[in-house]
Amino acid sequence: MALNLILMGLPGAGKGTQAEFIVDKYHMPHISTGDMFRAAISNGTPLGLKAKSFTDKGNLVPDEVTNGIVKQRLAQKDTEPGFLLDGYPRTLDQADALADMTEQLHKPLSAVINIDVDPKILTKRLTARFICKNCGATYNKLYHMPKVDGTCDVCGHHEFYQRDDDKPEAVQNRLKVNVKMNTPLISYYKDRDLLFNVNGDQDIDKVWQDVDKILSSL
Ligand code: AP5
Ligand code: MG
Ligand code: ZN
Repeated sequence: MALNLILMGLPGAGKGTQAEFIVDKYHMPHISTGDMFRAAISNGTPLGLKAKSFTDKGNLVPDEVTNGIVKQRLAQKDTEPGFLLDGYPRTLDQADALADMTEQLHKPLSAVINIDVDPKILTKRLTARFICKNCGATYNKLYHMPKVDGTCDVCGHHEFYQRDDDKPEAVQNRLKVNVKMNTPLISYYKDRDLLFNVNGDQDIDKVWQDVDKILSSL
């Protein structure tokens, strides 16, 4: 049976980190709207031009733009064995739009995994994040250093960068915007009996154990 999953959580909760483990084990496309916007911005596409002013400040990209790219992406053939949405939906309007898409495509959601972390600790996590320039693997100065200093564990390259929206001003606004939307979304999926909560304030490996326990029970 296809696993059609949503991974939700505040900025820095660990969605991307856990997504890497999930796709490794369960082999499904990882669909991160944030990654899609960043790729479009760095390629200078029309989507990127539309998204940049929002993502730079940590504001949400308008729903009709975001819904459009997800709709296109979910219609692709590689989502047939399942998919993992990371960071979408983030508003009730997006959740309703997704419900329409999954119905039209006959791809009902299997579960929504909410990585729960107190927003107070997320500022520290986000400003300490760095990413491999070559393969996108994510590290953290405080919690997750590469095994060999200065060398990516995944691809062996040596250059890293920091995301534009991990600057302190953008981080504060991103957290504020997302905290506001998070509670109604959690209720939305709880009401539909799809929600699983995971404590995201534990070691990365422990969070993965908890996520995997849920996925293997579905
Ligand atoms: P997006 O890229 O999705 O950013 P985000 O939601 O702010 O989340 P992050 O990617 O920053 O955090 P994450 O949860 O993936 O954490 P990670 O695993 O990297 O979106 C960017 C922007 O695009 C948005 O602001 C918005 O403008 C736009 N956008 C995207 N989707 C949208 C939508 N649906 N609607 C409208 N606009 C949208 O981990 C973070 C750090 O912590 C890393 O350094 C990691 O190593 C470390 N870490 C991970 N787990 C742990 C742990 N358990 N303990 C300690 N450290 C940990
Ligand atoms: Mg992410
Ligand atoms: Zn790498």
